[in-house]
Amino acid sequence: MNWKNAGENPFIGWFRMLITEACLSLVGVRFIFQRQFLWFESRRRLVYLFCSPWAISRRFLDDRGELEAQGYGETPLVTLEAVARRLELSTGDRILELGCGTGRNCVWLAANYGCHIDGVEQIPTLVRISQRLLKGSSLTDKVTLSCMDMFELDMSSYRLVYVDCTAMSEACIRQVAMLCAGLPNEARVVTVNASLSELMPERFQLERVFPGLFIWGWSDMRIQRVGMPEDYLDSPQVDSQSDHFNGNCGSFAAADTEAGDSALATGAAQGMNQ
Ligand SMILES: C[S@@+](CC[C@H](N)C(=O)[O-])C[C@H]1O[C@@H](n2cnc3c(N)ncnc32)[C@H](O)[C@@H]1O
Repeated sequence: MNWKNAGENPFIGWFRMLITEACLSLVGVRFIFQRQFLWFESRRRLVYLFCSPWAISRRFLDDRGELEAQGYGETPLVTLEAVARRLELSTGDRILELGCGTGRNCVWLAANYGCHIDGVEQIPTLVRISQRLLKGSSLTDKVTLSCMDMFELDMSSYRLVYVDCTAMSEACIRQVAMLCAGLPNEARVVTVNASLSELMPERFQLERVFPGLFIWGWSDMRIQRVGMPEDYLDSPQVDSQSDHFNGNCGSFAAADTEAGDSALATGAAQGMNQ
């Protein structure tokens, strides 16, 4: 479920969002207590108090004439932590975040897991602010934030990619699939609200799927492996329960068991939950 398909009464939607945000803040608070991240995050919050990244993104898209485009959204720390844990990140890893927004995910991952992160973002203001916030921090040798169009990237040196596709159009998600198809075999791509294995079954293999909590509700998080399908014969692992809530994310499991991912249904039936 996300803002694209919520289709509910606006008042109920607003109320649900308020409760979700309160829950997210409560659960996420334990993930902020890392000195370098706290330093970055407190100043980031202060800066964006005066002009939110949502507003900056809106202005950027309006200027480009993309009046209908949904531009911005953030991955809550509780959800990012669930991703990092499943990827078993360590100091030697190098991650690419496509569309890194304000760079918060990059800083959090580098501060907590010691890995190297390259974030690319198309909105110059967001990148400029993040670079200033990072200046002087000991994380500068681990986090690189660049202002560029993700579709101009050379992907050949990456093994781990994170991309939140929630705000993207179908056409844009297809472009992301094409882009990530250029990753070397065995690389892993984590997507939010996009199934690369359905779009390009000949190139991506679904490895794991789990529910991630966002401000708008539950979204599907997919870990997909790059390579020929016959290279990875195991069924995907399906975690139909969230780590932090036992609340209703039941729609999640049913939402995307489309033809291409029928293995999901099998996995769920076999009780492959974590
Ligand atoms: C939904 S936000 C996600 C922000 C961040 N990754 C997170 O999860 O908190 C998507 C971001 O991708 C950026 N983006 C969209 N298309 C892009 C492109 N072609 N090149 C670079 N960044 C892009 C948007 O500007 C936006 O900041």
